[in-house]
Amino acid sequence: MIRKPIFAANWKMNKGASETEDFTKSLISKIQSENFPCEIVIAPPFTSLSKLAEILHNAASGQNAHAIQIAAQNCSQFDSGAYTGEISVMMLREFFVHYVILGHSERRAIFGETDAMINAKIKKAREANLKPIFCIGETLAEREAGNLESVLRTQVTDGLAGISEKDMLEIVIAYEPVWAIGTGVTATSQQAQDAHQFVRSLISELYGKDVAGKIRIQYGGSVKPNNAAELMACPDIDGALIGGAALEAQSFFDIVSTGSAASV
Ligand code: PGA
Repeated sequence: MIRKPIFAANWKMNKGASETEDFTKSLISKIQSENFPCEIVIAPPFTSLSKLAEILHNAASGQNAHAIQIAAQNCSQFDSGAYTGEISVMMLREFFVHYVILGHSERRAIFGETDAMINAKIKKAREANLKPIFCIGETLAEREAGNLESVLRTQVTDGLAGISEKDMLEIVIAYEPVWAIGTGVTATSQQAQDAHQFVRSLISELYGKDVAGKIRIQYGGSVKPNNAAELMACPDIDGALIGGAALEAQSFFDIVSTGSAASV
């Protein structure tokens, strides 16, 4: 396996502290005796980061608790100051956050985040040594109009403008077709593989073949326990970003388990 698959639970605006505790304890007990060849990440809402960090810390003496890493769902592109409602990268560091999801289609569509803002956030995250999970993906209208590749090219080129090769190696890309997010309609494994291969070729154009071969590209959009294996078996798919099916510990565990086995 050249690239270690990464499975991330994106809880979106779900789960306060007590639900975070229940889920995480349950997940830890399930993975206790397992040794999955992958990274496991949980991205709770900001207000549950503290509880998640505490539970993982307390479980750290347990066998595999170290395998779970913490992600935030967003960060500010600014350091500090008069930005009401925003959370800085240094604040995230206090909760042992390693990853930060940036450019999710809900941030783009509902909160007006542009490629330039996402680019600024990626840079800010890297300044604090956080690893961005950089989301890209086309809408159904864009795909049907034949614009899949041009949309992905713009998102990748503008989102990564000015990012060094060294920082690029710390970035995970998540390809999430917008029409597959939360809809129950997943991309076919062929559609997903084609898009992933194209994104990898873009990274190769920008950073060279060696970097492109090392970058992990997750698939996201209605990943479930029953489709994870087929998607993860595709050569350019290196894990998943999971929303709805990651709200239950058993279902997230099943995706990690079958998905990581299929990735090998
Ligand atoms: P979904 O969400 O798994 O519910 O489709 C994925 C995402 O938005 O990251």
